[in-house]
Amino acid sequence: MKPYVFISRKLPEDAIAMLKEKYTVEMWDKEDVPVPYDVLLQETRKADAILTMLSEPVNEEVLKAGEKLKIVANMAVGYDNVDVETAKRLGITVTNTPDVLNDSTADLTFALVLAAARRMVEAAEFVKEGNWKSWSPLLLAGQDVHHKTIGIVGMGNIGKTVAKRAAGFDMEILYHNRSRKPDAEQELGAQYVSFAELLKRSDFVVCLTPLTEETRDLFNRNAFRIMKDQAVFVNASRGPVVNENDLYEALKAGEIAAAGLDVFAEEPIGANHPLLELKNVVAMPHIGSASMETRYAMMKLCAENIDLILSEEQPKTPVN
Ligand code: DGY
Repeated sequence: MKPYVFISRKLPEDAIAMLKEKYTVEMWDKEDVPVPYDVLLQETRKADAILTMLSEPVNEEVLKAGEKLKIVANMAVGYDNVDVETAKRLGITVTNTPDVLNDSTADLTFALVLAAARRMVEAAEFVKEGNWKSWSPLLLAGQDVHHKTIGIVGMGNIGKTVAKRAAGFDMEILYHNRSRKPDAEQELGAQYVSFAELLKRSDFVVCLTPLTEETRDLFNRNAFRIMKDQAVFVNASRGPVVNENDLYEALKAGEIAAAGLDVFAEEPIGANHPLLELKNVVAMPHIGSASMETRYAMMKLCAENIDLILSEEQPKTPVN
């Protein structure tokens, strides 16, 4: 009997052709609706491998249900949705999709910097709503990005790729990270500073740190109060790193100027989310890595990791 692979979202056939040739593959049949939890549990019971999205809670119950389960291939660089410790204890490999998404995610992150600073979404809506009556000197004037200071919190590979883009805009680059990154310091002139100093000095504060118990609510009212009144805050990591009520209050009170958000504490958000009331918020539906090329590369990497584990070889990108 061929090993059984369950994929928790409908993926394009060409992306999973290699898996289908070698294994019995079933997919949740919807592209834009997550697999119900009970279906995930039921499928995992039969599975040798599961390919999951960041929307799936791959918790202790799911992992324990997988009596034959050998690998969880999570289609994201972040894996806070997977109970990695339990997986390790049960001898289940967890893989993610690092590196293939660095450039695309950095592009989107920097696009949020530009969009929030130059009020691009507000301006586009202004035109579409027929409000443009004349050119005027300060019409929708925003802030410059070039030659300003960017502070990157979380200087992993995506952080470094954002720093490269910032260097192209002649920005001063500050960063804060658990460990120093000598390569970013030498190659890009990035300066390592404390979290508080980064908040104090940056015109653009960009959050790219993974979600852990230490980083949950890292950006709270205190942090926003330390930032400059003109600061723009961008989050392209995970929503719960930010206290959204505090962000809302800080934006309302003018403690910071604007925010560009690709991620939210609970996704998806509806049109009545309080942050969406604010004109100085640019909101995206968690599309950091969403280019066709990159999403296909992520699917391919997941498929390769599954194939390697089911062939009793080393996976390319294990996290545990
Ligand atoms: C990731 O890979 O963790 C991203 O958030 C997906 O876009």
